[in-house]
Amino acid sequence: MDLTALFQNHLQNSLIEIETFHPHYERALNYMLQARGKGFRPLLLLSVVEGIDPLLIDSALDPALAVELFHTYSLIHDDLPAMDDADLRRGVKSLHREFDEVTAILVGDALNTHAFYIIASSPLSADTRIALTRELSLAGGVYGMVHGQILDCYFERRPLDLERLSQLHINKTAKLIAASLKMGGIIVNLPQEELDELYNFGIDLGLLFQIQDDLIDTLSSAEEAGKTTQNDTEKNSFTQLLGVDGALREADLLAQELQRRLERFRPSLIPPLERLLGSYLFRHQRLKGDDGRENTEKDG
Ligand code: IPE
Ligand code: IPE
Ligand code: MG
Ligand code: MG
Ligand code: MG
Repeated sequence: MDLTALFQNHLQNSLIEIETFHPHYERALNYMLQARGKGFRPLLLLSVVEGIDPLLIDSALDPALAVELFHTYSLIHDDLPAMDDADLRRGVKSLHREFDEVTAILVGDALNTHAFYIIASSPLSADTRIALTRELSLAGGVYGMVHGQILDCYFERRPLDLERLSQLHINKTAKLIAASLKMGGIIVNLPQEELDELYNFGIDLGLLFQIQDDLIDTLSSAEEAGKTTQNDTEKNSFTQLLGVDGALREADLLAQELQRRLERFRPSLIPPLERLLGSYLFRHQRLKGDDGRENTEKDG
């Protein structure tokens, strides 16, 4: 099953419709959803469902969409002048540049809230919907992404040690990635032990993802990345702390370890996760060409 096509199709069929006399509210709500993100988090969720109980894929599309709405909200706010002040996102102007700051703040708020509306309305048992709500709010809010983002912004120009740096990135990025895998496991009723295993794998995968993202900021042009780059110079990014070579080494080690751990999942889970992660685990190696400068990353 081509999960990417399935999800992108569902996303485009689920664009938000609202009757309003506001001149651009509806377009602004959908603007960043139509701008082709990679869909990494929803695809993690769907890959787990496919590996355990493919008959549940259709029911899992809405929770997958919810994760993407939530993540998209975090990006819209992340680009605001008060945060990273970025002009480009997903190959198009960031939302506050296309519209204005008020619109970007409110569209972010709306997508955040709408994610939970979608979960609450999804075709799953009440217990499952509650468990999914709990996971996404835990990973995304007070105890997760928001905590990471507030650390990220507060500690600009205040270098952190490696331990605190990983705490920042675990909260900012890794918990939502871990929760995406676990939410797939919740939908197919995996036992707690395997949910924990998926979550822990997801935390390290999220750290790897953020190291690669930090390398993209340093090594890619905005055009190649589809978003503003060279923007982390005052941040506690992995490349700031470890240097490009150090971050590349760290990414290699983590990717190798994750590949070993992937092999230990229950057998039916391995092929769909390998299909997805095949293009992600070592994507940092594509960022640096032989001359040490050229890079080929196109997708941010
Ligand atoms: C970017 O996430 C923000 C990070 C947490 C690193 P993605 O690289 O998944 O961005 P999109 O969704 O593909 O635009
Ligand atoms: C943002 O991290 C992670 C979020 C929680 C949105 P970055 O600030 O590094 O993400 P990009 O590089 O702008 O996509
Ligand atoms: Mg940021
Ligand atoms: Mg940013
Ligand atoms: Mg970044």
